[in-house]
Amino acid sequence: MLETPTRVVVTGAAGFIGSHLCERLLAAGHEVVGIDSLSDYYDRERKEQNLREAAANPNFTLEEADLVDANLTRAMRGAAVVFHLAGQPGVRPSWGSHFDRYVHDNIVATQRLLEALREAPVQRLVFASSSSVYGNAEMFPTKETALPRPVSPYGMTKLAAEHLTFVYMRNFGIPATSLRYFTVYGPRQRPDMAFCRFMESLVEEQEIEIYGDGEQTREFTFVSDAVDGTVKAASADVAGQVINLGGGSRVTVNKVLDTLEEISHLKPRRRYLPAAPGDPRHTGASINLAREKLGWEPRVSLREGLARQWEWFLATPAKTETSRT
Ligand code: NAD
Ligand code: UGA
Repeated sequence: MLETPTRVVVTGAAGFIGSHLCERLLAAGHEVVGIDSLSDYYDRERKEQNLREAAANPNFTLEEADLVDANLTRAMRGAAVVFHLAGQPGVRPSWGSHFDRYVHDNIVATQRLLEALREAPVQRLVFASSSSVYGNAEMFPTKETALPRPVSPYGMTKLAAEHLTFVYMRNFGIPATSLRYFTVYGPRQRPDMAFCRFMESLVEEQEIEIYGDGEQTREFTFVSDAVDGTVKAASADVAGQVINLGGGSRVTVNKVLDTLEEISHLKPRRRYLPAAPGDPRHTGASINLAREKLGWEPRVSLREGLARQWEWFLATPAKTETSRT
């Protein structure tokens, strides 16, 4: 369905992953309607900057709107595919009164989008879910069939949204696929995420803060690989399925810092803090289903991807004050 140019919708278009996805779709000749509330989780200017390349393309339009109360019918009209990436990300800040935001942007927003899709049927809804739904998994690499048991409020809201897509598929035939992204990194990474924070501390000669002993592992995934899998999920025979997209290897946070030291030729000063509530100890993806169903393979190694993010970081003028959490 994406073999020929068509009209598609990307929610969360101004975000880290969404903006890369828009560029990929535009390069393939599609007409892209972006929807984004430009939420204040981090700087609006950063999001505008994310969109700069897409916005210069005549096939791109942006609707600045909150999915919860927007009239989505016009944006959805004639769209073959909706990529639903809008949401409130971030594992560690999802406690306390912040939780309301997570419910609003991850659960209610998804439900409203699904209601709109009842009126404007599409050929595929691709939902950006998260490795956070697994919590502390019992088996690594973790398969999609593992019992999801989130350990953060954030993960719980992403799992709820996954379930909502299934509810609407069952009852109203909306052909939805959920992709569980594993810790995505690369140019434009959100300022609250580890690599961005590490790089910022490094150039500012500040101590790098590590939550826990740094021996926790993540299956870091380069953004272009996440985007590849996302585009493939729009046309593959995967309606109703949940699929992991993981970068191909699990690495400790300490190892990431060693690699960053080699790439940057700067010596990080490391400060070890207590582990953060909500953080799973390890994540690791079985990607056999993605290989089989999507014909997908991650291509960018951690070293190469980290080097690309470092280059981008150095070339990006304003390191605006981040929502440090
Ligand atoms: P991001 O914050 O950069 O992008 C999300 C975008 O959604 C933002 O631009 C925000 O303004 C928009 N948004 C939020 N609530 C909205 C609403 N109610 N209506 C309209 N727009 C809204 O985050 P990201 O890192 O690019 O993540 C994109 C998606 O992927 C999120 O759903 C996130 O949960 C999921 N995800 C991300 C990662 C990762 O490592 N970055 C991993 C797993 C899953
Ligand atoms: C990331 C995203 O932020 C979530 O939105 C997403 O859903 C999740 O991936 C996922 O895979 O599902 P996280 O793994 O916490 O969450 O990503 P990072 O912020 O890059 O953190 C990676 C590791 O570094 C974590 O163990 C974290 O505790 C650690 N970290 C992070 C630090 O030690 N110090 C920091 O300053 C930041």
